[in-house]
Amino acid sequence: MLRHRLLPWFTLSALGLGALAGCERPAEAPVAAVSAPAVAVKPPAPPAVPNAAGVAKLASHFFQAPRAEAPLPADTEAQVALGRMLFHEPRLSKNHDVSCNSCHGLDTFGVDNKALSDGHRGQKGSRNSPTVYNAGRHIAQFWDGRAATLEAQAEGPMMNPVEMAMPDAKRVEATLSSMPEYATRFRAAFPKERKPVTLSHAAKALAAFERTLTTPSRFDRFLAGEHAALSVAEQRGLEAFVTTGCTTCHNGPAVGGTSFQKLGLVEAYPKLTDAGRFDATKNEDDRGYFRVPTLRNVEKTGPYLHDGSVRDLPTMVRLMGRYQLGRTLKDGEVDDLVAFLKSLTGELPPAERISAPPLPPSTKRTPKPDPS
Ligand code: HEC
Ligand code: HEC
Repeated sequence: MLRHRLLPWFTLSALGLGALAGCERPAEAPVAAVSAPAVAVKPPAPPAVPNAAGVAKLASHFFQAPRAEAPLPADTEAQVALGRMLFHEPRLSKNHDVSCNSCHGLDTFGVDNKALSDGHRGQKGSRNSPTVYNAGRHIAQFWDGRAATLEAQAEGPMMNPVEMAMPDAKRVEATLSSMPEYATRFRAAFPKERKPVTLSHAAKALAAFERTLTTPSRFDRFLAGEHAALSVAEQRGLEAFVTTGCTTCHNGPAVGGTSFQKLGLVEAYPKLTDAGRFDATKNEDDRGYFRVPTLRNVEKTGPYLHDGSVRDLPTMVRLMGRYQLGRTLKDGEVDDLVAFLKSLTGELPPAERISAPPLPPSTKRTPKPDPS
């Protein structure tokens, strides 16, 4: 069972912050089942100037700085380089005009900043494109978590009729094997395989590439002990993020992505039509649950929610306060929370790791673009 139950913030305050030291880290172990409060008790007013060491200690119970990246083995390196080409490869779409990068622009924080994306023939799906940055740290992929891994996820878009619209795996494989450079690169990336060019190897290479898409930020430097990395307002916001209970859902190295949670937990979310996790499990208990999104780079990844219906961050924070926590946040609290969220904007990898690499020319055998 992947869903983590809530530890309401009032339990945190009742325990006292000192007692937090004994808490399990939410990313590693589900917290005890407790029913959520319909009406929340007022939290203590935040101090004007926080004690940076105390805030850092408090935060360390909910967030772990990502581990340093180990050097990749040689065939993984070849998979990453291939994955980068495939990510930018429009010939993986039926009309050769849509690539992964069309909806997950790597120079725009892994999104297209549209409520709903344009796919094959300008068709729109029903959900907002989440960022691919830090997605490797999610417990499952898609808003409803229907793909367990990045590998499983990556096979989806090529054959999705409103995204890249390829008719079948055969067409993907025929396209890739028609270009000698791809054949060579698949052999280098999958040296032990008898048939290197397959849809599932393409997905594996895409996933290997996506795992390199991380965005270290000032927040990580703060967690690592460099207290001046966050301003006083950002630290107040971080403290509010923990004490108001945002961390019950947004926690772990990606500041989210560790559980499925109900949108409208405390108060029914208005006009919610998407069944969310229910689509993947057909379990009634999962209706209206969504995989909690990462909040890394959230300043840059709007519009927000699974349907892209919320345009700005202060509105989003107020909605979370009301529908997830039963609280009307004050203007000052919203300002501090937004300041903290902006500190999660990280550094994109250098252009030579994410920009479109040169792609091999089509040959006579490459299937032609098909606009139908
Ligand atoms: C037409 C736009 C479009 C294209 C093209 C596209 N995606 Fe997506 N992507 C989306 C949307 C929309 C979702 C969310 C769908 C859902 O949750 O049901 C998504 C979800 C994802 C996720 C899950 C992220 C998360 O946080 O759950 C990953 C990873 C991803 N796409 C990678 C890719 C890769 C790799 C490709 C190319 C093979 C690709 N996408 C092509 C629109 C697109
Ligand atoms: C009960 C769990 C829960 C709590 C508590 C919670 N959130 Fe969320 N949050 C979610 C879920 C689930 C979503 C995605 C819902 C959807 O897309 O329909 C979300 C979405 C968001 C988004 C939009 C991200 C995006 O990329 O679309 C922001 C910003 C956000 N939350 C901030 C906060 C803040 C700030 C707090 C505390 C005031 C908070 N959340 C409390 C579960 C929670």
